[in-house]
Amino acid sequence: MAFDLVFFGGTGDLTWRKLMPALFQAFRHGKLPPDGRILAVARDELNDERYRAWLKERFQDVVYAKRPTDEEFERFARLVHYRRMDLSQPDHYRHLRDWLAERASDPVVLYLATSPHLFTVVCEQLGAAGLNQPHVRVVLEKPLGHDLQSAQEINRVVRSVFAETQAFRIDHYLGKPSVQNLMALRFGNALFEPLWRRESIANIQITLAEDLGVGTRGDFYDRTGALRDMIQNHALQLLTMIAMEPPSRNDADAIRDEKLKVLRSLKPFTEDSVARDVVRGQYRRGMSGSQAVPGYLDEPKVPPGSKTETFVALRTEVENWRWAGVPFYLRTGKRLATRDAQIVVNFRATPHSIFPGVNAPNKLVIKLQPEDGLELHLLAAKGAGLQEPLTPVFLDLDFDKAFAENRVGAYERLLIDALAGRLNLFVRSDEQEQAWRWVEPVLDAWTRDNGAGGGPRAYAAGSWGPPAASALVARDGFVWAEEQ
Ligand code: BG6
Repeated sequence: MAFDLVFFGGTGDLTWRKLMPALFQAFRHGKLPPDGRILAVARDELNDERYRAWLKERFQDVVYAKRPTDEEFERFARLVHYRRMDLSQPDHYRHLRDWLAERASDPVVLYLATSPHLFTVVCEQLGAAGLNQPHVRVVLEKPLGHDLQSAQEINRVVRSVFAETQAFRIDHYLGKPSVQNLMALRFGNALFEPLWRRESIANIQITLAEDLGVGTRGDFYDRTGALRDMIQNHALQLLTMIAMEPPSRNDADAIRDEKLKVLRSLKPFTEDSVARDVVRGQYRRGMSGSQAVPGYLDEPKVPPGSKTETFVALRTEVENWRWAGVPFYLRTGKRLATRDAQIVVNFRATPHSIFPGVNAPNKLVIKLQPEDGLELHLLAAKGAGLQEPLTPVFLDLDFDKAFAENRVGAYERLLIDALAGRLNLFVRSDEQEQAWRWVEPVLDAWTRDNGAGGGPRAYAAGSWGPPAASALVARDGFVWAEEQ
């Protein structure tokens, strides 16, 4: 069916860096439903022709393999239109409605790729202009709020205009093929499920490490920090997928109900447990590969003396029968040793060893990026005789190789799903609010601690964060994966 897809913030970074290139990939792969229109709206004085020329130039920044040829761009650009729109002007929404009414498109997907402080105003105006009928969907980009109260306020307004089934809240990690594969690993295979519990698992480590610094986003980042930027959303979403019970069906609400239960089972933080179980850090100058890089406080647009954290490591537990007592460690940071997102499931040691030497317990490494794969670490005998210590070996699966042809990028997947009305990979408001509820005591404790002269611990760019992060895990008798 013919669709209309509208990007609010049509000249913004997100639109040209991520959304348009992803949409172009969907177009190239023949995944866009036929007869679509893509409308960018923004304040700039442009028309269709000038917007298309501007977009063509921006596409030069896209990696070569994903860049359109002139001929491809020509065909893609025919779908793309531009309207000037001032989001504070009610009559501009009526113009938009009239433009959309030129034909009876279904669905109409309104993508708010704007600054989040505009979400409530835009939603109210969309409602006032009647742009909220059942065939309309609204897509909301993160950050959805700054804390529980602001997230609730956004959700209250969104709910007053749209039904929950019309609201598509993005967490782009859910669009990554490697993250979708977590569901397949757990619920498409019978192998691991009997082991996926406290009796067999010693601890679980989720690491989202970046080697880049904050770059040009110093002002945004300084108001945000690593806990809000990566833990409240991406890391917690991964945790829910690892810890959730099997949903009864592969549908959005069945999945999101189970994820919500995990979020509700997370051990709440207290002032004492924040001090004990959460480590925050901020990078100082150091090395990124062979290049010397500045510290956070010397990055553009970062205020002097900032106490914003660029690193967080924390320990939590999922308080239910399956997971009681199993530590879950979450860790993220900028300017770490490498770019690496992975989940390590450390199994318990054998109860009694009959082999010489130290027998490392099994572990399953779920590699999310840059590689997408699975490593199952086992012990094997080379066959050198009775006194032979066992040798670590691993089974290695590389999904990028195995499925090279069919890989679909995160934003491409999410845009296709939003057009198709599939909510499985989007976050429901109650999940999102519960995640805020859980991180909020940490934010509060830090604010109090900042006043008392506290703040994040320093770590050198290019390291794995402050040593206290290692101590956090060592206290339980464990180590981070790279320390093994
Ligand atoms: C975003 C954060 O949500 O995720 C960024 O705002 C971060 O700070 C990015 O760099 C990481 O995403 P990815 O897909 O590169 O791991």
